[in-house]
Amino acid sequence: MNPIYSRITGTGSYLPGAAVSNDDLVARGIDTSDQWITERTGIRARHLAPENVTSSDLALEACLRALEAAGRVPADVDLIILATSTPDFIFPSSAALLQNKLGIKTGAAAFDVQAVCSGFVYGLSIAEKFIRSGSHRCALVVGAEVFSRILDWNDRGTCVLFGDGAGAVVLEASEQPGILSSALHADGSYSGILSVPGQVCSGRVIGSPFLQMDGQAVFKFAVKVLVEVAHEVLTQAGMTVAELDWMIPHQANVRILHATAKKLGLPAEKVIITVARHGNTSAASVPLALDEAVRAGRIKQGDTVLLEGVGGGFTWGATLLKF
Ligand code: UT7
Repeated sequence: MNPIYSRITGTGSYLPGAAVSNDDLVARGIDTSDQWITERTGIRARHLAPENVTSSDLALEACLRALEAAGRVPADVDLIILATSTPDFIFPSSAALLQNKLGIKTGAAAFDVQAVCSGFVYGLSIAEKFIRSGSHRCALVVGAEVFSRILDWNDRGTCVLFGDGAGAVVLEASEQPGILSSALHADGSYSGILSVPGQVCSGRVIGSPFLQMDGQAVFKFAVKVLVEVAHEVLTQAGMTVAELDWMIPHQANVRILHATAKKLGLPAEKVIITVARHGNTSAASVPLALDEAVRAGRIKQGDTVLLEGVGGGFTWGATLLKF
């Protein structure tokens, strides 16, 4: 029997509401400046979801666009993996809520993945293994976040960095690869450098419900592991950096992206950078950037693309694929 591969057949993304510029944040009373944010991060704007809009709402919009691009309808989907750290509820999962919003009545499997900003790459790798095993044929892999809900708007060191949004892909069984290699990692001993260290207990929040970060420690760790995992998946596939057409790292900060590309010896023009327009959208950032690049006609069928995630946990991972 021929091996089963998996291939992305459609991409979609969604950003809620109007863009909120750095100057808009200053106008809202945050003690910052467009110059500081732009120079340190490359971020110029982010989108903030209205109060009644949830991660599964954003995911729905991104999925409908991805399905349309793939020429599929919701009933074709037999697996939904939704990566989020800002789920609609403690339970049920946002993936199950999304399945219902998509009107899927076939009993398709649906679950959330919690790997913070690496969540999409984790989800994609899991979906690939499901498809390769033969158990499923058509997956929606989604990253969706409303990070604005977990930001302390009095902490200028973090609140200017993040935004809300969603990105999705349709991953289907295929006779052609598709996904060439992938790697996932975690090191929980770094859990303290990026976290929301709170929980709900007996109706009260215990700890903090807001994001906390040691920015410089995160910066150094992110560059190191993004470089390492890029080499790991290239080696697995028997390929070199020179064979990459595009790299899409987690869109956290242009300085992290440039430093990673430089250490890999990858020309800056091969790095997809969309963070300026939406800030750090955590699990949504990689599929958002992928979709923007595909729709702009930059990434074309047959291109070799490296997707990379890194985030709280600490978690990191990469997927190398032929688009
Ligand atoms: O998914 C992973 C997400 N995490 C990241 O992407 C974070 C990676 N880290 C970084 O990108 C950088 O560490 C930051 C952009 C977060 C911060 O840049 P930095 O060069 O590490 O700045 P810093 O935290 O050392 O702060 C430098 C100065 C401080 O002022 P003083 O003490 O030098 O007077 C801060 O108070 O910048 C000040 N500052 C700000 N000023 C204006 C911090 N935040 C702001 C702000 N606007 N928003």
